[in-house]
This record gives sequence, structure tokens and C-alpha cells, in this order.
Amino acid sequence: MKKLNILLLSVLTLTAYAQKFEDLAPTPPMGWNSWNYFSCNVSEDLIREAADAMVESGMKDAGYVYINIDDCWHGERDSQGFIQPDPNRFPSGMKALADYIHSKGLKLGIYSDAGWKTCAGRMGSRGYEFQDAMTYASWGIDYLKYDWCNTEGLKAEGAYLTMRDALYKAGRPIVFSLCEWGNDKPWEWGPKIGHLWRTTGDIYHCFDCIVDHGTWKQWGVEQILDQQDGLRKYAGPDHWNDADMMEIGNGMSVNEDRAHFSMWCMLASPLIAGNDIRNMSEETKNILTNKEAIAINQDPLGIQGFKYYSSDGLELWFKPLENGNWAICFLNRDEDAKTIDFDWSHWYVKDDLNNLVIDFKNEEYKIRNVWSHKDEGTTKKVFQTELPGHDVIMLRLTPGK
Ligand code: GLA
Repeated sequence: MKKLNILLLSVLTLTAYAQKFEDLAPTPPMGWNSWNYFSCNVSEDLIREAADAMVESGMKDAGYVYINIDDCWHGERDSQGFIQPDPNRFPSGMKALADYIHSKGLKLGIYSDAGWKTCAGRMGSRGYEFQDAMTYASWGIDYLKYDWCNTEGLKAEGAYLTMRDALYKAGRPIVFSLCEWGNDKPWEWGPKIGHLWRTTGDIYHCFDCIVDHGTWKQWGVEQILDQQDGLRKYAGPDHWNDADMMEIGNGMSVNEDRAHFSMWCMLASPLIAGNDIRNMSEETKNILTNKEAIAINQDPLGIQGFKYYSSDGLELWFKPLENGNWAICFLNRDEDAKTIDFDWSHWYVKDDLNNLVIDFKNEEYKIRNVWSHKDEGTTKKVFQTELPGHDVIMLRLTPGK
């Protein structure tokens, strides 16, 4: 009996040990991250101001919750190996910062790297995983983005497993964001380890470009979109394909920003703003806080959308939503405007993965335009409109007349 008890206990301990925190991301995480706009220029003042702005701008009301500090917050390790924040940038310490963020009803994210150094050359977590996880938990951190620079000799799945177990052992529920750039197909092993995984290298604030840095590349919105092909089957509640932090408000045109946001919504990608949310234009704010678009991203079914049709720079994307609703997005990849003349009755759309069908010939749907916030009749009538270059028409379809 005693033997049996010991066996049972060790089985229980083992199962409790080897898992990720469940249900932390039933819908794609929403927040803000410092990197795309501020790169290494982070400080506690900036992070507090970003939190204030998230509340004041209406982003919090729209569903954004994470304030994520990216690279360069690090100071040295103390004599026992515990990581300290940079004393000049974060003089009050991380615990005080987390308390402030929490007092605003928001959550705090932090960044580390599976290698011995981060991408910007700060202290990585290699060899310190359990100690770092304990430190983050003691500070009150809610989200960890874990990067993949300087990882010579490591295998991604194993390295991310180690940090997952360390976080779990530390006991504080922390969303685990794998930033491995899609190198080793994290969608195949990521669901049991983290809540989201990057699918590509870093984004760049252009709609259609590749920035070549020699050993690595940055990708425009269209280029990131194309790299999502074939990945939708891996995503769902608590395990999302991450198309990278957004570049809305960072220099693209309003049309391009709108298209970028719409496509991240269609992809059920995490929505992590990457601009200076303390100083944004009305247009940027309106895009980031469009609740009808966000509802498509945050739909409880958690089904990633798919490209159904593509011709001459025009793409048609569909995303199944709850209650038999669908989102549809016309994306114009070209710079020139296009005329849309869409006769619904010719379309029979099938989502093979989920065995869902829209048979427009036999079923009628009400049309809601997500960006103009207007009802546009039903699918019994041909849908006609002008679609500017690098822009979208995003619609929600609801069964009925
Ligand atoms: C990598 C990541 C980026 C960012 C930087 C920070 O490039 O992919 O998102 O975190 O590192 O150095």
C-alpha cells in the first residue's frame, strides 16, 4: 500500500509538473509591446505612461490588457545569479511597476531569451531558467516573451519546455509567448508548451517589402501574411499562431494600417500594438479600437481564417464565427483601386478543417460593414463597391434577412 501511495504521488507530481498553465489565452492575447517603436529605449516611466495611455485611449475598454516590456530592461545578475532590472531605467524595481500596472486593471509582460544573451545582447536565461521564472513570479509578471537569439547547441522544443516547466513550477500563471520565428516549426510542438508562437521573423512597418539585414530579414505585412499558409490547423483557444506585434501607427498609410489590422483579426493572431500609444492619431486609435473588428479576432470559436480565393491582387478571406456568423475580408494587395462586383449566389464556401459551409445560393446572410459600421443589406443582392489600393472591405455575415 505504501509503495502504491508513493507511486501514485510521483505520478501526480509528474503530471502536475509537466504542463503549461491552461486557459490563460482562450482568445488571442491583446496588448502592447515596446519593441517595434521604442526598441531598446525602455524605462519605468515609459511603461507607466503606456499603461495610462492604454486606459485613456479606450484600448483597455476595447480588450487590450498586456503591457509588455521587450528587450533591454535587464541589468546584471546579483552574486547569487538573480537577474536585476537596469537600475537607471527601472529604479523603482519591477515589483512596483507590476503593482502600478495591476492597479490599472492591466497585466505586465516581460522578455527574455532561451540563449545566454538576448537579441540586443542583454542577459539571457540559459542556465537560469528556474531562477528567472521564480523572479518573474515574485515580481508579479503575467506574460513572458521568450526569444531565440544566441542559442547555439540548443534544440528549440527542449529549451522552451525547460522554461515552460520553470514557469509552472514557480506557480504564478504566466502567458508563455514563444518567439522562435518559426524556424523549427513551433506550431507542431508549441501547443503543449506555450500559448502563442511567432510564425515568422520580425515584422517591418511596410505593406509590401523585405528588409534584408544579411543574416536575417524583416518582413512587410503581405510577406508575413503569405507565411501563414498551411498553419491554421495548428491554432485554437490557448495556442495561437502569432503573426508578430503590429506596426499600426508606425508609418504606413491609413489604408495599409486598416488592412494590416483586419488581416491580423482574420488570422486570429494575437493583437499586440507596437506603436507609441501615448501619441497616436485619431485614425490609428480608431483602427486599434474598432470593436467590431476585434470581435472577429476574439470570436470564442477561436478559428483562424483562411484565404479562399486569390486573383490579380485581390484576395478573399473567410473566418467562421460563433452562431453561424462569418467574417469575410476582401484584400486588395495592389496599389491601384479595384471595383468589387460580387455576386454572392455564385459562391459556395467550404471550411474543410471544421466542416463548415456557406451556400449563398440557398442561404441568406445580413451584411455588416465592420469599418463603415453600416448595415449593407443582404447577400441576395450583388455587393458593389470600390476598394482602394492596399486596403480591405471587412464584413460580418449573420444568417437571416
Ligand atoms: C527579436 C524578436 C523581436 C524583438 C527583438 C529584441 O528580433 O523577434 O520581436 O523582441 O528580438 O531584441
